[in-house]
Amino acid sequence: MDSVKQKIENLRNELNRHNYNYYVLNSPTVSDFEFDQKLKELERLEHEYPDFDDPLSPTHRVGSDLSVKGFEQFYHERRMLSLGNTYTVKEVDEFVTRCKEALPGEDVAIVGELKFDGTSISLHYEDGRLVRAVTRGDGEKGDVVTDNVKTIRSIPLQLQGSGWPKRFEIRGEIVLPWKAFERLNEERAFNEEPLFANPRNAASGTLKLQNSAEVARRGLDAYLYYMLGDDLPFDNHFDNMLAARSWGFKVSDAMTLLHSIDDVDWFISHWDTARRELPVATDGLVFKVNDMRQQLNLGFTAKSPRWAIAYKFQAERALTRLRFVSFEVGRSGIITPVANLEPVLLSGTIVKRASLHNEDIIRTLDIHEGDMLYVEKGGEIIPKITGVEMADRQPDAEPVRFCRDCPSCGTPLVRAEGEASWICPNKYGCVPQITGRVEHFVGRRMMNIDGIGEETVTDLFETGLIKNAADLYELTAADLSMLPGFGERSAERILQGLEESKSVTFDRVVYALSIPFVGETVAKKLARATGSIDRLMAMSAEELTQIEDIGPRIAASIVEYFADERNLAIVERLRGYGLQMSMPESDSTMRSDRLAGKSIVISGTFSRHSRDEYKDLIEQNGGKNVGSISKKTDYVLAGENMGPAKLEKANKLGIPIIDEDTFLKMIE
Ligand code: IVH
Repeated sequence: MDSVKQKIENLRNELNRHNYNYYVLNSPTVSDFEFDQKLKELERLEHEYPDFDDPLSPTHRVGSDLSVKGFEQFYHERRMLSLGNTYTVKEVDEFVTRCKEALPGEDVAIVGELKFDGTSISLHYEDGRLVRAVTRGDGEKGDVVTDNVKTIRSIPLQLQGSGWPKRFEIRGEIVLPWKAFERLNEERAFNEEPLFANPRNAASGTLKLQNSAEVARRGLDAYLYYMLGDDLPFDNHFDNMLAARSWGFKVSDAMTLLHSIDDVDWFISHWDTARRELPVATDGLVFKVNDMRQQLNLGFTAKSPRWAIAYKFQAERALTRLRFVSFEVGRSGIITPVANLEPVLLSGTIVKRASLHNEDIIRTLDIHEGDMLYVEKGGEIIPKITGVEMADRQPDAEPVRFCRDCPSCGTPLVRAEGEASWICPNKYGCVPQITGRVEHFVGRRMMNIDGIGEETVTDLFETGLIKNAADLYELTAADLSMLPGFGERSAERILQGLEESKSVTFDRVVYALSIPFVGETVAKKLARATGSIDRLMAMSAEELTQIEDIGPRIAASIVEYFADERNLAIVERLRGYGLQMSMPESDSTMRSDRLAGKSIVISGTFSRHSRDEYKDLIEQNGGKNVGSISKKTDYVLAGENMGPAKLEKANKLGIPIIDEDTFLKMIE
């Protein structure tokens, strides 16, 4: 038995070392094949001898598909602060001078570091083992995301070397490297899921996923930059970080000890350009006083340490000429102005177009025909027009005028009061709106009809085969074979896709209809709250606003949609073809009438069921889930962190607040 235990230990140590070589040092010493063989061997032994299993074994880095419900919260022993920002070398120099003046007669060494653009994390180690990983949260308390963090291969689960304190905390940044970010967005584009605007959002979104196997797949990485604890090995930051590196943490090679203002200035000018070569996103540099006694003397302001400062990089900017502004029509008729530019290289990609969003933005920037425009790509990946170079404006240049008629069908545009966008009201006669709605209808996250893309929709429309989404269900193999480049196989695929779409759930059908302002989340809420298209169609704007997250604008849009005969005709035809027009039985069946006539507001986070499940439970027991507290509310079902405004209102109106256990007993 002991020899098995020893064998398991040896395999774990070996695999941990390989992980370290690969993910921290970037210099693998075994082939992937050998690594996988060893991992499989370890898995087999752990399976055979479950007594020797260990949650921190390298076999557990792949995460689990079981989704967790919310995260436990943890109060940070020491608050997680942010840093003061500076934007110029001068301000950084002033920071160094301030520190020196506050420590008269002392040498002040500064550590220069990269400011990684991800999401901060606090890792807790006891006896050399990772015991907990906590997000920054609100600085006082964060979410416990240990299971997700364990999947990050560059984070040691068991420390190597020696000299670590029995208990300590180490903080750093979880990042999604550029390559992994691009791969993830390509995948999301393919699946028609919303793209992440930048690696920072992608990293924080990934860390909060409820499925650690998916986290493992996405390829997060982590750089550590700050150690805390009572018995740290050294009395200065730099040496502590070197020690951390020797224990297996990824500490950036960029970390440099700087002894003078000249050193600091050099560090800034070096990284201002060199950062472009880095495999991860950075948004600046961080300067820290090295000596921890000096840190203590300098202390903290309410929000940030006086012994450290961030220097933010200038967003990369280019100047290029505006060729013309085009106006594009979306499926809901919204007109988007787009600046078409002389191609220009910006952070490694060529930019030719940038959205100007709406008329107000054109006006605020005061863009004239042929202007030289500044284009920026900051933390955002999407290029943005940030200004005009006035010195280059032609004296006779006219201001860019927003079109007054639809660029596609010529109908005069309308602009609703208080809205920023101009809209083409010709919903049923304007080609890009019609084809846009059909393209949306067949999309992956809607009816997911394989084989029909943008081009096919246009071809189907131009050949007169379809005028709306319902017409798709009348298509025959003979019709489809008329399309350019269509064979029997591609026609077959579409017909099968149409057939399969008949089992797509009701919430996705609601989303597929292209009701203005009804996105994916709203569609889900509507489907769940109403249960069927008949109830949805019959609801007044006032009733609709009782549903959580449905405001007056969405409600009005839904009422308007169903008031239009043409939409009703499409819905009825779709129903006739067999599309799902209600939630499945099990979701809408009544379990009891214990909550009959009761209006219940849900607030906060829960541990026994999700919010959506509580919503279903209320409805299944005859109650009504409403969004906001009023005199008519019967109960507030409160989880943790109920909003203070709601709490006050409930107390003021004397509405009973019940917790989840009480609620579950009520419907038992
Ligand atoms: S030190 C008390 N060092 O920037 C010192 N922060 O605005 C705390 N960050 O929340 C932070 N790289 O998420 C430090 N090398 C670095 C950093 C860094 C990125 C992030 C961190 C922090 C934010 C401060």
